[in-house]
Amino acid sequence: MTPLPNTQTAIKINEEYKLVKIEVPVHSELEGDEILVKAKAIGLNHVDNYFADFKWASPGTGVGTSLSGDVIAVGKDVTRFKVGDTITSFTFGSDSEFKDHGALQQYVKVLETNSFQLNVKGYASTSDIPKGPITNYEDGASLADALITIGISIYHTFGHNDEKDKTILIYGGSTNVGQIAIQYAHTLGWKIITIASQRYETLLKELGANIVLDYHSESLVEDIISLGEHIDYAYITTGSTKSVEQVYEALPTEYPIKLEGLQVPNIDFIENKKSNITYELTRAFTSHERIITYGNGASHKPKPGTLKSLKEFVPIIENLQKQGKLKHLPIKVLPGGFDAVNEGLKLLKEGKVSNQRLVIRVNEEI
Ligand SMILES: NC(=O)c1ccc[n+]([C@@H]2O[C@H](COP(=O)([O-])OP(=O)(O)OC[C@H]3O[C@@H](n4cnc5c(N)ncnc54)[C@H](OP(=O)(O)O)[C@@H]3O)[C@@H](O)[C@H]2O)c1
Repeated sequence: MTPLPNTQTAIKINEEYKLVKIEVPVHSELEGDEILVKAKAIGLNHVDNYFADFKWASPGTGVGTSLSGDVIAVGKDVTRFKVGDTITSFTFGSDSEFKDHGALQQYVKVLETNSFQLNVKGYASTSDIPKGPITNYEDGASLADALITIGISIYHTFGHNDEKDKTILIYGGSTNVGQIAIQYAHTLGWKIITIASQRYETLLKELGANIVLDYHSESLVEDIISLGEHIDYAYITTGSTKSVEQVYEALPTEYPIKLEGLQVPNIDFIENKKSNITYELTRAFTSHERIITYGNGASHKPKPGTLKSLKEFVPIIENLQKQGKLKHLPIKVLPGGFDAVNEGLKLLKEGKVSNQRLVIRVNEEI
């Protein structure tokens, strides 16, 4: 291995809970299941804001959840990757156990469980990358978090099965998670009803959705009910408690339904509960199936069996990528590398990013 530098550029949370670019040591000692990656492209996600804004991370910890890069070292228990491979990974730095993790740095430690071999090679030739198959570093970095998220929500919670006659309702079909979820559910042969802006109807139908309803509709609950569909699973990828209330109200009462959310922790606020509906929250940060503790002291338990499910799910995704069955959203590469992180996160916070992923290239820094 080429000798590593002693220090590297990283984005960390400072004492004022701001994200700042600083020089930090390179940590190259690895646990058995860890991989050291020379980051090439890093995707920006809403959660990077939450770490700081909600004090999920402690000062000094790293942020960033999605990256692609080159493998430069592997822990003794790693079996699927070797030095020289390219890798697409989900990672996180907020957990007290993994303070030196976090994608927004030049040399990133990731867990093998959260890593995909998607054959990403080299940088794209443009900074405005259109929707398409996963081929470059930027493509992988744009969707690693969404892949692990749907692995927990759809594969694990909804339960993988070979029955093709299932129907899933996906609220927030145009989000990154929503578009990846539609594509994956389509490969399972499920019927897909999705709720998004009407301007995305053609796009979402191309990805595999059968029915697209408008989330702006004043009569959304009735719109869902009047479809008369037998909905087996409902997946809420965005929105507030209002989205959960609307979907919950629209779901039938006659048979068991699994409802999964990404933002609302529980449904205590719903007055008229339906005994046939079970609600759960996906927390991608428990993908390693360990209890996580945030900087604010809050602890969260993993869903039992997550690790086993992800070990099965990751190769399925790798296969879909090989067959060209997974497309990333349009990507905007922000010029300036790490210097562009705060500008990108501001755009996300202001809701100015729609049907697009923001990615930085690390190479510009080196
Ligand atoms: N719990 C977890 O483990 C986990 C994991 C991953 C992501 N998340 C969370 O999931 C959410 C989605 O993340 P993402 O990166 O996939 O989002 P994203 O791609 O940034 O979402 C942007 C899209 O959301 C749509 N949208 C906004 N408000 C909506 C609403 N009320 N109803 C329907 N669509 C709406 C927008 O459409 P328009 O422009 O047409 O409005 C836009 O296309 C974020 O809050 C993220 O933090 C949680």
